[in-house]
Amino acid sequence: MPSRRERKKVERPIDVSRSIEESLEEAASGEEEEDVVDLADLDDASAKEVVAAEPEHPASDLGIRLRDALTTEAPPRVEARPPVRHPETDVDLAVDAARGLRLRNPVLTASGTFGQGTEYAELIDVSRLGAIVNKGTTPVARPGNPQYRIAETPSGILNSIGLENPGATEVARKYGKQWAALGVPVIVNVAGYSVDDYVYVVAEMAGTPGVVAFELNVSCPNVKGGMLFGCDPGLAAEVTRAVKAETDLPVIVKLTPNAPDVVAVARACEEAGADALTAINTVLGMRIDIARRRPILGTGSGGLSGPAIRPIAVHITYQVAQAVSIPVIGAGGITSAEDALEFLMAGAAAVQIGTATFADPLAPLKTIEGLAAYVREQRLGSIREVIGAALPRG
Ligand SMILES: Cc1cc2nc3c(=O)[nH]c(=O)nc-3n(C[C@H](O)[C@H](O)[C@H](O)COP(=O)(O)O)c2cc1C
Repeated sequence: MPSRRERKKVERPIDVSRSIEESLEEAASGEEEEDVVDLADLDDASAKEVVAAEPEHPASDLGIRLRDALTTEAPPRVEARPPVRHPETDVDLAVDAARGLRLRNPVLTASGTFGQGTEYAELIDVSRLGAIVNKGTTPVARPGNPQYRIAETPSGILNSIGLENPGATEVARKYGKQWAALGVPVIVNVAGYSVDDYVYVVAEMAGTPGVVAFELNVSCPNVKGGMLFGCDPGLAAEVTRAVKAETDLPVIVKLTPNAPDVVAVARACEEAGADALTAINTVLGMRIDIARRRPILGTGSGGLSGPAIRPIAVHITYQVAQAVSIPVIGAGGITSAEDALEFLMAGAAAVQIGTATFADPLAPLKTIEGLAAYVREQRLGSIREVIGAALPRG
C-alpha cells in the first residue's frame, strides 16, 4: 500500500438540497465586471481606460493575453431561459440520507452500476438525482477478476467484477473536476483489505470536488478477505472509527446480507460513529455451466443483485431501521417508485438503484418522478412522511 498523505481537513457545506447550479451561478454572477473594476482600482482609472490604455512598458506574454481577453468583444448576452420544470419540481422530496447530508431527493445510484457517473451524464440528466455513488475505490489500481464476471439469473444477475478501478489518486485526479461540473453530489465508495486501506483512500480523496460523503464497502463478497469487515461487528466498528477520525464528511457503512448477524454489525457501526448505513450489498450466489461442468463465474461464487434479492433487502432494512437511530439507505432490486416506497416505508431514508439501470438507464429518474407523483396524489407535505410508515408503532 502506498504511504499515506497528511490529513487534509476540508470545510464543505453539505446541504445539497439546493441546486448546485444555482449556487455556482450566484457565485459567478458579476465576476467579469468585478475583475475589470479591480484592475481599475489599482490604477485609479476607469474600467474602460484600463481596457484601452497603451502600455508604458513592453507588455509581457501574460499582459498581452490579458489585454486581448479584455478587449475581445463580449459575446451577446443570452436571455436567461426559464428553469426546466420536471415532474418533481415543487414537490418536497428532500431527505437526510445521512447525519449531516441532506439531499434534494432520496434516489441515489448504487456503487459499481453507474460507473463514475460521468459516463451516464451523456445519457440522462444526472443533476436530477439525489446523489451518485461511484465505483468501489481502492488505494491502488485493480484490474478486477478473471472472466466471466457476470451471469444472468432469474430476476437478477450474479457479478464478480473484483473492484476494477484506477486507484484513489487517479480517481480524484481524473473525476474530481468532472464531478463538480455534473451538478450532483458524489459519494465515494471505499474498499480495501485492511483498516489502513480504507483510511488511505479517504485521506487521498479529501477535498476532491463534488464529494460529499464516503460509503465504506465492508461487504464485497468477491475479493479475498473482503467480507471479513462486514461480517464481524468488532472489525466493522474498527474500520468505521478509523475512517471517522480521518474525515469530517459523513461516513456511511454498507452492510452485507451475508453476515451471520447483520443487526449486530449495524449497531456496532452506529456506536463507532457511522452517520448512516446502506442495506444491502449483494447476496452470495453461484451458477454452474453444465456443459463445462464448472462454475460460470471466473471466481466461482459472486454477488447476486436485482429484483431477486429485494425481499431480503426490505427485510434487513426493516430490522436495521428499528435497531439504530441513524439513517438507513435501502438497496437491492429496486426498479421503480413502488419498489422504492417499500424501502422507505420499511424505514429507509433514501434508496439506491443499481442493476435496474443496466436494463433502463432512466430507471432512477423514473423513480424520482413516481415518488413525486405519489406525494402529490397522497397529498403529503413531503416524501419524509412515508419514511418508516410500515414499522411497528409505539
Ligand atoms: C456489477 C456490479 C458491481 C458492483 N460493484 C460494487 C462496488 O464496487 N461497491 C459496492 O459497495 N457495491 C457494489 N455493487 C453492489 C451494488 O451497489 C448494490 O448494493 C447491489 O447490487 C444491490 O442493488 P441492486 O439490486 O439495485 O443492484 C455492485 C453490484 C453490481 C451488480
